[in-house]
Amino acid sequence: MSNLLERGRSHTCNDLTGADEGKKVVLFGWVDSRRDHGGCVFVDLRDRFGKTQVVFDPQVEQKAHGLAGDLRNEYCIGIEGVVKSRGGNKNPKLHTGEIEVHATALDIFNKSEPPPFLIQDDIDTNEEKRLEFRYLDLRRPQLQKNFIMRHKAAQIVRRHLDSHGFLEIETPFLVKYTPGGARNFLVPHRVYPGKFYALAESPQLFKQLFMVAGFDRYFQIVRCFRDEDGRLDRQPEFTQIDIEMSFPTQDRIFEIVEGLVTTVWKECLGVEIKKPFARMEFDESMRRFGNDKPDVRFGMEHTDLTELVKQHDGGGVPLFADTVKNPANLIKALVVPASANLSRTEADKLEELCKGMGSKGLARAKLDEAGNWTQSPLAKTISEGMRSAINQATGAKPGDLLLFQFGRASLVHTVMANLRLHLGKKLGLIRDKEWAFLWVVNPPLFEYDEDTKTWAAAHHAFTKPVDADLQHIETDPGKVKCFRYDLVLNGFEIAGGSVRLHDPIVQGKVFKALGISAEEAQQKFGFLLQALKYGAPPHGGIALGFDRLNMLLTGTDSLRDVVAYPKTQKGVDLMTDAPNEVSAKQLEELHVRAIIPAKA
Ligand code: AMO
Repeated sequence: MSNLLERGRSHTCNDLTGADEGKKVVLFGWVDSRRDHGGCVFVDLRDRFGKTQVVFDPQVEQKAHGLAGDLRNEYCIGIEGVVKSRGGNKNPKLHTGEIEVHATALDIFNKSEPPPFLIQDDIDTNEEKRLEFRYLDLRRPQLQKNFIMRHKAAQIVRRHLDSHGFLEIETPFLVKYTPGGARNFLVPHRVYPGKFYALAESPQLFKQLFMVAGFDRYFQIVRCFRDEDGRLDRQPEFTQIDIEMSFPTQDRIFEIVEGLVTTVWKECLGVEIKKPFARMEFDESMRRFGNDKPDVRFGMEHTDLTELVKQHDGGGVPLFADTVKNPANLIKALVVPASANLSRTEADKLEELCKGMGSKGLARAKLDEAGNWTQSPLAKTISEGMRSAINQATGAKPGDLLLFQFGRASLVHTVMANLRLHLGKKLGLIRDKEWAFLWVVNPPLFEYDEDTKTWAAAHHAFTKPVDADLQHIETDPGKVKCFRYDLVLNGFEIAGGSVRLHDPIVQGKVFKALGISAEEAQQKFGFLLQALKYGAPPHGGIALGFDRLNMLLTGTDSLRDVVAYPKTQKGVDLMTDAPNEVSAKQLEELHVRAIIPAKA
């Protein structure tokens, strides 16, 4: 064994300062850079803590200097040396910038091939290369900082929840497939031909059973698996801080989560977040922002014009008049302020953006000095009364540009929500120093599926309805609101949960509204329904997206910067090349046949 390894390191590469001058030290790390100057070799030695400059001077130690000539980037080495002041050559950017270590011994633990990219932040290397050599990418200081932060956040979460009486108990990953929620990954069973486990998309039902078991308060930092299309804020396997408690009210659950999140923000970032967090009704969020995860750090809110247009009998605009005939339709507008100085070409580009989202186009109108509409086909026929009513409702002023969407409500909401965000970013309206936490509450229990013409559970079938709304469950299910909530931060959904339905009678009504027969319910959720019959306590909970939380904490815009070994958008691990084919023999053992579609 090497001598230095045997002795062990005395300091990390971020420890030494002027106060250590004269000390004999041993450091381990990687060669970040190497320069030859006037007979001396200078090496920046890097470890996860930082960097220290090491000088190999032939006057100090001939042998070490000789060896140092062979050093190249990313060699893994140990050095022994004496801490010296850098005199006038201090580097204020480094914590160790006052000193350098004059090497008296060098051990090369391992050489390195030239790395496929420089191990530096802000380098312009394509992401695929970086994911293929992820272990090298992870050496970058920024990524190391992200994972150190992630570790810290996880410890704070454990401490905080433990101190509030939550027990950390594991749940299985290999579970029974239950319908609803995200699409599951399936795992074939070798012993039972044709039978499959599902990989748990969350511990949902198991944590509810913990409450039946009397554990009272549970949490887990747990991996979840969902076969969904990738996005910057979505991974097929991701981590939740999963929480469930007995005898809750919605307010009590919010209090726990607010306490947890503000502690994480304080201890990780030194930022004091005000409690309680703001709350907004789901309906209001849809009306003002077009989605249930609004970024409230800027205005440019939507105005719903549907009722106004109805009151004006279409106001001379045939497209509007047609739209409001169908109760499933909406008309919405937003105002781009004159100060944005949007050119026609830029407005045309916005129209393309909307078309890309499935919209037919983007109607617009510019207000002249008198509030008349210009540059718009709508201007030709619109009644004066409706025009001024729209100007007033939207607050549009001379020089402003009005943008409209009309048609099926869900599409209008989505297109306008994305348009608002796009403009917010493009025009620099977002106050990026703010932490805008927001509870979105009281959504409908059921969602109407236009395609199948049936009602479906909007979240899951075990969410407690608002008692006063139960009277509508048979006649008008769309009116029934429920105790479900999402926590939104700066436009990202960072948590979601609900107070659960523990009453078997109301449960029966919900299944009926969903068109699920008692038999079917038994077959799908039998074990949970059974458990609810044995004195199940009132219970409720929430899960926080731990990766998303870290993404926001570290100020990055991709989950891939906070997940150690992430998948690409297409679900591929470029480092190990998963998923991959397996042998015919393995498939046979699992009683599975691969059907490979002919290439299109
Ligand atoms: P939900 O499905 O809302 O709730 O998930 C909770 C939170 O997990 C995060 N999240 C994701 N993060 C990364 N990649 C994904 N693919 C992904 N999917 C979800 C989000 C989300 O808010 N069992 C319920 C919780 C409950 O009711 O207690 C659940 O899983 O930040």
